Amino acid sequence: MHCVREVTEDLYWVGGNDRRLELFENIHPIPEGISYNSYLLLDEKTVLFDTVDWSICRQFLENIKWVLGDRDLDYLVINHMEPDHAACIDEIILRYPNVKIVCTNKAFLFMNQFGFHPGDRVIQVKEGDTMSFGKHEVMFIAAPMVHWPEVMVTFDKTNGVLFSADAFGTFGALNGKLFNDEMDFDRDWIVPARRYYTNIVGKYGPQVQSLLKKASNLDIKMICPLHGPVWRTDLEYFIDKYDKWSSYEPEEKGVLIVYGSMYGSTEAAAEDLARRLVEKGMTNVAMYDVSQTHVSYLIAETFKYSHVVLAGVTYNLNIYPPMHNYLIDMKALNLQKRTVAIIENGSWAPRSGQLMRKLVDEMKEMTILDEELSISSTMTEEDADSMDSLADSIIESMK
Ligand code: FEO
Repeated sequence: MHCVREVTEDLYWVGGNDRRLELFENIHPIPEGISYNSYLLLDEKTVLFDTVDWSICRQFLENIKWVLGDRDLDYLVINHMEPDHAACIDEIILRYPNVKIVCTNKAFLFMNQFGFHPGDRVIQVKEGDTMSFGKHEVMFIAAPMVHWPEVMVTFDKTNGVLFSADAFGTFGALNGKLFNDEMDFDRDWIVPARRYYTNIVGKYGPQVQSLLKKASNLDIKMICPLHGPVWRTDLEYFIDKYDKWSSYEPEEKGVLIVYGSMYGSTEAAAEDLARRLVEKGMTNVAMYDVSQTHVSYLIAETFKYSHVVLAGVTYNLNIYPPMHNYLIDMKALNLQKRTVAIIENGSWAPRSGQLMRKLVDEMKEMTILDEELSISSTMTEEDADSMDSLADSIIESMK
């Protein structure tokens, strides 16, 4: 049975949702599910924009068949060759052997690397090339590293629709909805959206900035990403989020406390700091146990807040492994422009503070506060003054 939605005149969403996959890219938990979007244009020519993940291929093929009716498929535009969007290329070729595949040179290369067999169907396009399908004329815009090197986005000059590939995507199954104005995005979707962007595309801020610059010259009326809702209202809201995330500017003045604690003493110190911050007037405080929280959630929160407190034990004379993993991920994702405070704990040879500082120092434009607290096993009344100074220093640095 088909499950299709009309996007705008002549354009249909023919994607689907997956609520079974536990880990996106076999790394990131997606309890909210995910959608794989594909769009089919019925003009004088019929044009499919990207395919979908293998998990929903059957639904996808039923959708296409229903929308096409007795028409053939003329073109398949591949904006992104990652298999969560390109897995069904051979299935399309099998059913629609006359189809021409439109993609970048690199996408063609990847198509072969992934073992697809496009034969002589491929039409290679590059930045600024245009194609007409009848009423609709589209322009192809290179978007390398958003989020793979072969990526392009396609702009329909006729109706202002931007097929944006992974850009402006989010985690989350669509649950019958398709458009951003059918949901309370800022209430229900911003958390998975932030987690999607920061973990999947976060490293490529400069490339996203470059795409945003190109997009600012287009009269975009609608954004059709490969995951999550289609944007047809309030585009500026989401473009502004992307601008902040990709320039590594915090969204909010606030303190994220991430602690690694084996027996609860470092957790107690983190609680003490949180209490002092709130009592001193800084109520925008979030706390996470690094051992209990998947790092993808920590990364998303780190992109959100202006200040980060790392409170961690020393483990095998090193940084506590889950804390180390978080810091390495932060660095890999190019996180910048945060103010960081450090609390270390150690029973006989505390070293985590120095080592965490070194890792943060290797990131760009990070400010590490001078006040540091070193706890010996448990926080005592004697540590209270130092903790209070640390809280003051965090608040002072926000002015
Ligand atoms: Fe949703 Fe980069 O693939």
